[in-house]
Amino acid sequence: MPETEKLPVAIGSDHGGFELKEKIKKLLESEEVEFNDFGCFSEESCDHPLIAKDVAEAVSSGAFSRGILICGTGIGMSLAANKVKGIRAAVAYSVETAKLSREHNDSNILCLGGRTQDHKLALEMVKVWISTNQLPVERYTRRTRQIMELEK
Ligand code: RB5
Repeated sequence: MPETEKLPVAIGSDHGGFELKEKIKKLLESEEVEFNDFGCFSEESCDHPLIAKDVAEAVSSGAFSRGILICGTGIGMSLAANKVKGIRAAVAYSVETAKLSREHNDSNILCLGGRTQDHKLALEMVKVWISTNQLPVERYTRRTRQIMELEK
């Protein structure tokens, strides 16, 4: 993994994503990627929007370069995270979509479904997502800018 990508990652899940979150943490450790776990810390039922808020604000503030959010489907997490200014949270469902969400969309949060995705595949997606940057192509950066202008 390139040195520039070893920036701190904020990670969080609800109960539906807890098991996959623990696996992703192990992967980040083995890849020597610094991270902070924003919870949850057990499989006890909890509310995904609250965790999404904490992770999204951590990324939006600049304290963390990227975030990873996992719930049952990834959908609730993405809906909540995208309400926070500066966030481009993408639900990816394959290695290709995880990669393209960086290359074309400059996603800064990856949302995964702990109950709907194969965990081995999800780990591959994280690996690729972490080590991919937006392509320096004018039409991609222009479109990302246009998305961010929707916040105004
Ligand atoms: C929790 O049961 C489930 O609704 C949640 O994890 C998530 O999938 C919501 O989008």
